[in-house]
Amino acid sequence: MPKKGEKKKSDSISRRSFIKGVGSGLVGTVAIAPTIIGDEVIAAKKKKAKTLPDKKVITLNVNGRTHKIEVENRWTLLDVLRDKLGLTGTKKSCDGGECGSCTVIMDDRAVYSCMILAVEAEGSKIITIEGLLDGEKLHPIQKAFADNDALQCGYCTPGQIMSAKALLDKNPNPTVKEVKRTMAGNLCRCVSYPNIIKAVLDASKSLRKGGI
Ligand code: FES
Ligand code: FES
Repeated sequence: MPKKGEKKKSDSISRRSFIKGVGSGLVGTVAIAPTIIGDEVIAAKKKKAKTLPDKKVITLNVNGRTHKIEVENRWTLLDVLRDKLGLTGTKKSCDGGECGSCTVIMDDRAVYSCMILAVEAEGSKIITIEGLLDGEKLHPIQKAFADNDALQCGYCTPGQIMSAKALLDKNPNPTVKEVKRTMAGNLCRCVSYPNIIKAVLDASKSLRKGGI
C-alpha cells in the first residue's frame, strides 16, 4: 500500500498502457475452480462440436455490444473474442481449462472462455476485461490490483480480475477464505497470491464505499 502523499501506481496508468502493457495483466473465475479438466473436457468439447453444423452466423453480446459473426462450430469463445473481435485482454495460456487466464464473465458467472464454444455463448451476456474500463478510468478492481502490486508479468491478471469481479458482484464483503476459495481456479506462475488477495479485499472496500 502506498504511504500517505505517495502517488498510487494506478494514477499513472492510462487506458492504452493498461490494455497493452500492465493491462495485459491487469486487464480476466468465480465459479471457476474447474469441475472437470484436461483430456476429458477436451474430448467432450470435440464430441459436441461434431454434432453441430460446420459454420454458423451467431450473435454475441460482448461488453454491451452485439456482434454478428460467422464462426466454425469448433471455435472457442476465447478464440472468437481474441481473433475475431480483437479483445486480446483475455489471455490464452493452457487452452485446456486448467489455468484461468482466459476467464470472462458469462451471465454473471466467471467461466473459462477456452472451454466454451462460441456457438454456445449465443444469447448470453459476456463481459471481458475491456468491459470494465469506464473510458480512461480503471475499474476499482483494476485500480486495487495496481495499487497492491498484485501482478508481476501480468499474464494471469485479466483472469484474476474477472474472477474477482464475479465474486464481488455476488458477495460484496468476502472473507479471506472466501476470496481464496473463489479464486482457486486462477493460477499465477509469478506467485503473486498474497497481493492478489489484498487487492480483492481492498477492491471490496472501495466498491462498498461507491468505487472510490
Ligand atoms: S487458457 Fe483457459 S483455462 Fe487456461
Ligand atoms: S503475474 Fe505473472 S502469472 Fe500472475
